Amino acid sequence: MSEGADRSTVAGVLGAWDEAAEDFGRLAEHLWGPVGAGTVAVTRPTEGERVLDACCGTGASAEPAARAVGARGLVDAVDLSESMVAMAARSAAGLPQLRTHAADVTSWQPDGYDVVQCVLGAFFFPDMDAGTEWLVRRARPGGRVAVTIWERGALVPAGEALVGAVGAVRGQPMETPRASTRVQELGDRVALGSWLADRGLADVDVTTVPLVLPMDPHVLWLLVLGSGFRGMLTGLDDEQVGAVRAGYLERLADGAPVDATTLVALGRRP
Ligand SMILES: C[S@@+](CC[C@H](N)C(=O)[O-])C[C@H]1O[C@@H](n2cnc3c(N)ncnc32)[C@H](O)[C@@H]1O
Repeated sequence: MSEGADRSTVAGVLGAWDEAAEDFGRLAEHLWGPVGAGTVAVTRPTEGERVLDACCGTGASAEPAARAVGARGLVDAVDLSESMVAMAARSAAGLPQLRTHAADVTSWQPDGYDVVQCVLGAFFFPDMDAGTEWLVRRARPGGRVAVTIWERGALVPAGEALVGAVGAVRGQPMETPRASTRVQELGDRVALGSWLADRGLADVDVTTVPLVLPMDPHVLWLLVLGSGFRGMLTGLDDEQVGAVRAGYLERLADGAPVDATTLVALGRRP
């Protein structure tokens, strides 16, 4: 993806995630795995159920859901990024009920699912409200719909350290990404719960899933390379990326551990 490409479009989001896929997989044990398991502990798919895992990435929530529904169930795991989906497909070997699809989930047509879950993806939709309403309509009446986002403040010290380090290397301040702005707006239990209720769900409840990242430079740098943060490195050469890494880690060195707590909002389609 070229520098300055518009990451508010579906194509812009796709480029960023295709580039991040390998490192995203390496970060999974520290971040995506615990977050995905935390969401599935809330959606609680049961044997034989049909699940739509929207924005599945490398399968962190799709895989535990597939184990829960068993061979009589089905999980459709959908992600825009072919690289991510290919990795999810590899981890799905031995779980024939887990089907992976490279597609834009905001136009995914099948419906009637018992569970629709979207972990850390909805805030990347060009229109988060309309995209989530589309997901709500993929559930059967009475079905469960869950949207997981970062708690307000989660990852912020890392984001600020990266913005500072990239700005110093580029010689100009960086803008805050649009996805971060939505997370800051919706990232508490009350705001997220009422936003999801406004998307047409009943009995909405929000669960907090605490997580703190290890203060290990390897993991903290993987957090940049294997997440949406990676987009801030676009257009930098290897030497500049090395300088960003050094500046980023230095800014984080004396701070508190990086919090990665998520909120899982669960409701029922009336
Ligand atoms: C932060 S990752 C989360 C992945 C996974 N749910 C997890 O928690 O490990 C966000 C994912 O959303 C996907 N995504 C963003 N917009 C999408 C869309 N419109 N349709 C399908 N996937 C999308 C990206 O490709 C990326 O894999």
